[in-house]
Amino acid sequence: MPETSNVDYSTKIPNNVGLLDDQRVLKALEQWHPGYIDWWMTMGPEGFQTSDVYLRTAVSIDPKGWAKFDYVKMPEYRWGILLAPRQDDRQVNFGTHKGEKAWQEVPGEYRAMLRRLVVIQGDTEPASVEQQRFLGKTAPSLYDMRNLFQVNVEEGRHLWAMVYLLQKYFGKDGREEAEGLLQRRSGDADKPRMLGAFNEATPDWLSFFMFTFFTDRDGKMQLESLAQSGFDPLSRTCRFMLTEEAHHMFVGETGVGRTIEATCASMKAAGIEDPYDINAVRKLGVIDLPTLQKKANLHFSLSLDLFGSEISSNAATYYNTGLKGRFQETRIDDDHQLSNAVYPVSKLVDGQIKSIDEPALTAMNMRLRDDYVVDCNKGVERWNKVIEKTGVKFRLKLPHVGFHRHIGEFQNVKASPDGQLLTDAQWAAQRDQWLPSKADGDFIASLMQPCWERGKFASWISSPKIGIDNKPGDFEYVKIHQG
Ligand SMILES: [Fe+2]
Ligand SMILES: [Fe+2]
Repeated sequence: MPETSNVDYSTKIPNNVGLLDDQRVLKALEQWHPGYIDWWMTMGPEGFQTSDVYLRTAVSIDPKGWAKFDYVKMPEYRWGILLAPRQDDRQVNFGTHKGEKAWQEVPGEYRAMLRRLVVIQGDTEPASVEQQRFLGKTAPSLYDMRNLFQVNVEEGRHLWAMVYLLQKYFGKDGREEAEGLLQRRSGDADKPRMLGAFNEATPDWLSFFMFTFFTDRDGKMQLESLAQSGFDPLSRTCRFMLTEEAHHMFVGETGVGRTIEATCASMKAAGIEDPYDINAVRKLGVIDLPTLQKKANLHFSLSLDLFGSEISSNAATYYNTGLKGRFQETRIDDDHQLSNAVYPVSKLVDGQIKSIDEPALTAMNMRLRDDYVVDCNKGVERWNKVIEKTGVKFRLKLPHVGFHRHIGEFQNVKASPDGQLLTDAQWAAQRDQWLPSKADGDFIASLMQPCWERGKFASWISSPKIGIDNKPGDFEYVKIHQG
């Protein structure tokens, strides 16, 4: 079967890349499959592998109607290889190869670099499943539980997407890397996942929502820039992944939004005007807004670290070689080579934070991070609208990019959320006002009681406006059989 927009389900591995005609890759993937299932059973959602979950599965790559909804046991989910349609006239759109035909094979001289990009992206996908594996047990509703599992199976599929590239285009090294992706473990001291934020714990549902809002959005930005790649199979893979990623960010944004809604509604009902009257708010069984701010501070700063150093010669090379572009590269009005262009970078200069023009090529990470911050801010403003509507006087705000950083320009300094540089003692004295404290974590944990009755929601979160696939409020999104 040749490449098509419909997905071939006749093979064990659903695909639209003509796997039946590509026996070498089909065999390689079939050999990898048992190890993947083994990983899913041991590291995937714990306790729900025999439950029936109302999930969407991709049946086509057509943007309208690619998904089919049905009850599925997660280990039987049809993880497949789905690439956006090929455009025959597609070109390399930036860097020194600009104007050449897009590559259908890996250019030999860029092989190692390209493999690294694919492996780094691939490593994040199973990592988040590992981080979220215990959350089903404390789900605040069946609706939320279903959304968690949808995100999880799709992150699994994203792993498949990267493994397909490794198996098809990178020979023996590719096979070894595909194995490695199943062997590293989030948070493991000996064989951790490759990036920091993917080794942090996701201990509760608020963390999960913040993670899908902030960290999956980093994923979106990385996929957007890889979707620009001159290596066409990578571009097409990432374009399809982005359509799934949008749902992950929806889960995060609405999850936090509904948490805010429950908090403000309870405050109003109880006549609490002061959002900083934390004890009174917490007694209502909802999460106070200052604690939501601290969680946002934490997840935003951890996600900023994922963009790497502001100034990076690797990032310049990725761009020059046509492997990784800028966010919405083809919509930017410039020469797409940037040999003499500059870009403003916030840096530490003589103990002060200043904006300094740097060569645009080496500032690629900074630029992508700036685009990310703009995108985050839009979501934060939508949260503020939720608060405003209730009349509660409080605004959420993203902290300064120098706050709580472990990578890049600000890794060796302490800064407040509004960007004031601090001594270690000043930081230590105020840290718990800016980042979740042990007590905050304990309080949130105390609210994490399962709420699995149809149509019911835990006290700390409001119900969604509309159901998944337009289902009614009391729809049984997960039929729980605990195994
Ligand atoms: Fe993903
Ligand atoms: Fe995601």
